[in-house]
Amino acid sequence: MFLYLRCEVDHDKLAGMQITLFSSKSYDESFFSTENETSRHELVFHEFKLTPTSAPLAKGSRAVCAFVNDRLDRETLEVLHAGGTEFVALRCAGFNNVDLQTAHELGMKVVRVPSYSPYAVAEHTLGLLLALNRRLYRAYNRVREGNFSLQGLVGFDIHGLTVGIIGTGTIGEKVVRLFNGFGCKVLCYDVHENEAVKALGAKYVPLDELFAQSDVISLHCPLLESTYHLIDAAALEQMKPGVTLLNTSRGALIDTSAVIKCLKSGRVGNLGIDVYEEEDNLFFEDQSGMVMQDDVFARLLTFPNVLITGHQAFFTSNALTQIARVTLQNLSDLEASGCCANEIEFS
Ligand code: NAI
Repeated sequence: MFLYLRCEVDHDKLAGMQITLFSSKSYDESFFSTENETSRHELVFHEFKLTPTSAPLAKGSRAVCAFVNDRLDRETLEVLHAGGTEFVALRCAGFNNVDLQTAHELGMKVVRVPSYSPYAVAEHTLGLLLALNRRLYRAYNRVREGNFSLQGLVGFDIHGLTVGIIGTGTIGEKVVRLFNGFGCKVLCYDVHENEAVKALGAKYVPLDELFAQSDVISLHCPLLESTYHLIDAAALEQMKPGVTLLNTSRGALIDTSAVIKCLKSGRVGNLGIDVYEEEDNLFFEDQSGMVMQDDVFARLLTFPNVLITGHQAFFTSNALTQIARVTLQNLSDLEASGCCANEIEFS
């Protein structure tokens, strides 16, 4: 069970602390340095992922800052704790990569950024659809090569389509608003109905009805045991032939091999994904000079009606500013008062 703590903060007590950031890219350094101008923290940036081997680099730092693919298992946490680290600040919303029980046993506090820019993810979802629908990625390459043929570029109007949204939380709600703007009929499925979504005119229906009626299906629910491979062969069988599938949530919501079969048969007409179930070994790094080892991913790349981005839906300057600001604020709160509204506690 996870508890989200809320408490008051005395900011006058702030003296600043050393924070070691792992998996840090130049953009992290830029946004964190800018946001730190008003704080007194000392930031140490490392490009390495956080693992038991790299953890000693944080020795002497009161806090470490980690990202989605950093490894915060028992081994790593013990090394960090031995080096004097008290706080783990995740610069993301998800915390599935943290052994919260061990953190609790060691007395380490774990904080996160629960929400940074739902608009970024919602707008990227629409971006995938618009690019897929009108084959913009193919048109871009053709025109650059002097090929002005329209063969193979025929699209369809989004206006008037029936769109199925699975998961109508913070991001899903924004996606409903965008599809409303296009003049679509919006169907929704969620384990908890969102009144704001109903007020927008969207209709909650059972999942099988959403599958059967939707021209476009977009996933915005979290990855849980109950949602693992939510889109599997049986679900795909219920969908309209030529359905467009969009996933900017988590890769393992989709059984990729089942979708590949349906792309080959034409049952799936378009696939737009920002996440992939085996993305840990691929995304966020330049692997352009390496031989692709993932045959499933390599097969996906061969389809003209598949568009993949590398987990960049969140990646706007607005979101990066918010991530840096909230992460530093979380640590300032911990420093000032020992607690933080964005703390995750295991109990
Ligand atoms: P949220 O927690 O506000 O909304 C999630 C919704 O999913 C909730 O309404 C919840 O009731 C619903 N849900 C839970 N179990 C369900 C089930 N079995 N079937 C249908 N709905 C279910 O989360 P938020 O902020 O809207 O984020 C959604 C997802 O977007 C996250 O879980 C994350 O995986 C993904 N994400 C992706 C990013 C990217 O860069 N591609 C960035 C941020 C989030």
